[in-house]
Amino acid sequence: MTDLTIQSGQVIERVLSMELVRVTERAAVASAMLRGRGNEKAADQAAVDAMRRELNKLPIDGEIVIGEGERDEAPMLFIGERVGNRKGPKVDIAVDPLEGTTLCAKDMPGAIAVMAMANAGTLLYAPDVYMNKIAVGPGYAQGVVDLDASPEDNIHAIARAKGCKPHEVTALIMDRPRHEGLIAAVRKTGASIRLITDGDVAGVIFTTMPEKTGIDIYLGIGGAPEGVLAAAALRCVGGQMQGRLILDTQEKADRAFKMGVKDPVKKYDMSEMASGDVIVSATGVTDGALLAGVRMGKDVIETETLVYRSITGTVRRIHGEHRQFEKFKLD
Ligand code: FBP
Repeated sequence: MTDLTIQSGQVIERVLSMELVRVTERAAVASAMLRGRGNEKAADQAAVDAMRRELNKLPIDGEIVIGEGERDEAPMLFIGERVGNRKGPKVDIAVDPLEGTTLCAKDMPGAIAVMAMANAGTLLYAPDVYMNKIAVGPGYAQGVVDLDASPEDNIHAIARAKGCKPHEVTALIMDRPRHEGLIAAVRKTGASIRLITDGDVAGVIFTTMPEKTGIDIYLGIGGAPEGVLAAAALRCVGGQMQGRLILDTQEKADRAFKMGVKDPVKKYDMSEMASGDVIVSATGVTDGALLAGVRMGKDVIETETLVYRSITGTVRRIHGEHRQFEKFKLD
């Protein structure tokens, strides 16, 4: 059987890895064309349009489980939307066509186009609420840190596991007023904190390559959809992550319940957020520690993409040179 006979689930998945790269490349280039224009909406819309167009060419029967919002608030890539040509396997799709819309609009580091694909029914249907998250990269004993432990205990645990002092640990936290207490607690241990203004999917992924990014641990509250995407990427490389939805109003709890969340205070482990075979693709929009941004040359557009595959744990860093510019034009 050749690869293209596409008969076993595994072969389908392998063939589709490259297709996912194409999808995030197109979304990244579309939004990069609007980098630095101060228009978050336009940059996001360009990424959404491009991603949706490319997704609908794929030989899959996909359902958006993490998307641009719920059906009544997002006309495209809404939760529940069917994507693909319906001729392939049933899959769950999680997308963030432009993760870090403000970063792109201000041409600041760290904006990416990202998506995950997994066997149907295996990605957590997360409502668009906040999630409290903790993540560390691979190589630590299971349970080395815990969402319910104090920040101090988690920093000390990482330091012990690394065989270093707490002041040699670096935590990544989103720079938000809601993190005032968390930041103070981490500072008390002597650990260093890198504050980011946006983009915590990449922030979590940073923990998987501490030698490159300098980040040992992610702590704090960000978007729940971003949490699921990050968990999917971490599943592929073997880090650890936990997350708990913040359902602090009845309306949010009801919305989550409708999406299948039976226990509103459940602490989700990484493999409960992404339990099946998963592929994740992320392409840089603006330059960042994880990925280079799109380079717009006169004759060539260059992209950089990371594609992760959980079955094998393979991570590929793909440098794309695109010469057929018309492919990037909107239909
Ligand atoms: P957008 O791309 O939708 O602007 O999200 C960016 C982001 O920084 C995420 O990475 C993060 O999870 C979330 O926003 C945090 O939300 P808030 O800005 O409300 O703190």
